[in-house]
Amino acid sequence: MSLSTATAQLDRKGFLDLDVDPTLDLVAEIQRLKREKNAVILAHYYQESEIQDVADFIGDSLGLSQKAASTEADIIVFAGVHFMAETAKILSPGKKVLLPDLKAGCSLADSCTPPLFRKFKEKYPDHIVVSYINCTAELKTLTDICCTSTNALAVIESIPKDQPIIFAPDKNLGAYLIKKTGRDMVLWNGACMVHEIFSHARIVKLRQHHPNAKFIAHPECEAHILSMADYIGSTTGLLKFTMSDSATEFIVGTEAGILHQMQKSSPHKTFIPAPPENNCACNECPHMKRNTLEKLYLCMEYELPEIILPDWIIEQGRASIDRMLEISEKAGLVVT
Ligand code: 13P
Ligand code: SF4
Repeated sequence: MSLSTATAQLDRKGFLDLDVDPTLDLVAEIQRLKREKNAVILAHYYQESEIQDVADFIGDSLGLSQKAASTEADIIVFAGVHFMAETAKILSPGKKVLLPDLKAGCSLADSCTPPLFRKFKEKYPDHIVVSYINCTAELKTLTDICCTSTNALAVIESIPKDQPIIFAPDKNLGAYLIKKTGRDMVLWNGACMVHEIFSHARIVKLRQHHPNAKFIAHPECEAHILSMADYIGSTTGLLKFTMSDSATEFIVGTEAGILHQMQKSSPHKTFIPAPPENNCACNECPHMKRNTLEKLYLCMEYELPEIILPDWIIEQGRASIDRMLEISEKAGLVVT
């Protein structure tokens, strides 16, 4: 397919559908493009391992936002999902932000459309809005403070106790925060399709076969799964726990992509993905996994697809992210 046809089809397909020479050394090409274009690759832990291995920074949603805000590169290539690349664009509006596949979405962001949320918000005029960063850029314009799984507790605790709160869009993270803080928050009814797939019965059975294994889980999981966990944390929190804890076996209740860094950091330890309700690889995020090394290469070569946001969204969406970054800094939650 020619470049002009592929570009014309970009909106419909979400990525540049061009043939890539199968003999090309994609890793070497990507490294060359990074140098030539002064580009930085930011990758989430849920990306394919080969993408993580070419990235300049691998992190969770908070770490990636902090890096996107501070990078001196001219181009940010975001190996993650759409809302993450939008956040990078809001934080660095003067830079070119690329996403290998525009259709790399998120079930949480999709669940909370701005028109529906605007109506929901009208029912609670005294409430302030805390939104999980897993939401669209437009939703951030309807948000007072953003949060990620790393700083959610610090964000809620920064709000005066008598101030009522709407928490959107993740009802599971919201329920976990209500339990931790004792705050009575109004929750939007959204969930992550990956973190809702884990099977309580199959985890119990797995633990019987691995009595010394610790079960660790992300707070996007449902309450009955979290109730079994020895440790609950963001992806970075989970990774750090496996590095510092004395256990040598872990059952991991989050997207399986994180196992790559866990295994790299602790090669002598064993990591078992928590089993889902059925036998497919449902603990892999289909949105995150839309990115491939080929798409990453093409998007760097042709600088497409690019994230473009209207100025009003950048201006109005920024305040909620800036507040989150300030609270994180005060709480000492800063990546280095
Ligand atoms: P964190 O990156 O905050 O751990 O969130 C996980 C996730 O689901 C990102 O989409
Ligand atoms: Fe969204 Fe869940 Fe995928 Fe994260 S893992 S991008 S929350 S669907």
